[in-house]
Amino acid sequence: MTTLRLRPENPADEAPVARVLATAFARPDVATPPEVGLVDELRHSDAWIPELAMVAEYGGEVVGYALLTRVRVRTDDHTYPALALGPVAVAPNRQRIGHGTAVVQAALDAATELGERLVVVLGDPAFYRRFGFGRADRMGLTSPWSGLGEPWQALLLPPSTTDEPPPPGGEVLFPPPWAKV
Ligand SMILES: CC(C)(COP(=O)(O)OP(=O)(O)OC[C@H]1O[C@@H](n2cnc3c(N)ncnc32)[C@H](O)[C@@H]1OP(=O)(O)O)[C@@H](O)C(=O)NCCC(=O)NCCS
Repeated sequence: MTTLRLRPENPADEAPVARVLATAFARPDVATPPEVGLVDELRHSDAWIPELAMVAEYGGEVVGYALLTRVRVRTDDHTYPALALGPVAVAPNRQRIGHGTAVVQAALDAATELGERLVVVLGDPAFYRRFGFGRADRMGLTSPWSGLGEPWQALLLPPSTTDEPPPPGGEVLFPPPWAKV
């Protein structure tokens, strides 16, 4: 039986990942959707964390992708690291059979393993609430998108020790590649 394989991307995945993004985010008004360039730029930036670029492979083909990259949160007196989730994409002919859920959960599990505590995402709550995401503005987190309300979401990952306090609210600072989308 063919099973879905979830693993971090390797250099050979770059073109297949771009194809999944281009087809999943295809729009009639652009030849290449901005998500393709966003991933390429993030891949060559300080925000990239190789273990957290997660690929879903089915029958030897890349069919899904979930990316977590570095952002920082500015509080009153310091900044601390967090993660942004996105883009998330599944090849159109493989959607709605669980691949998106599986590849996002694999990326979040890998982030927990690395000791990460906070993930933000801009997207449809109908998809993201299954992972535990909730409104980021209610956690005191702001961004250029916080005015959108529900789509601006955040998730606290479980701490490695029980006495670790949750990270404070603040302004989430996205690195320059995000200005593209
Ligand atoms: C969003 C996406 C990654 C989900 O992947 P998937 O493999 O289809 O998701 P799953 O099969 O694990 O889960 C399906 C559920 O996700 C939700 N969902 C799927 N696509 C969705 C979308 N575009 N918007 C909101 N919710 C969506 C639905 O609740 C769906 O449940 P249903 O089939 O009972 O209606 C995929 O549809 C995709 O690549 N879409 C285009 C790119 C995109 O919009 N990505 C960002 C999403 S914010």
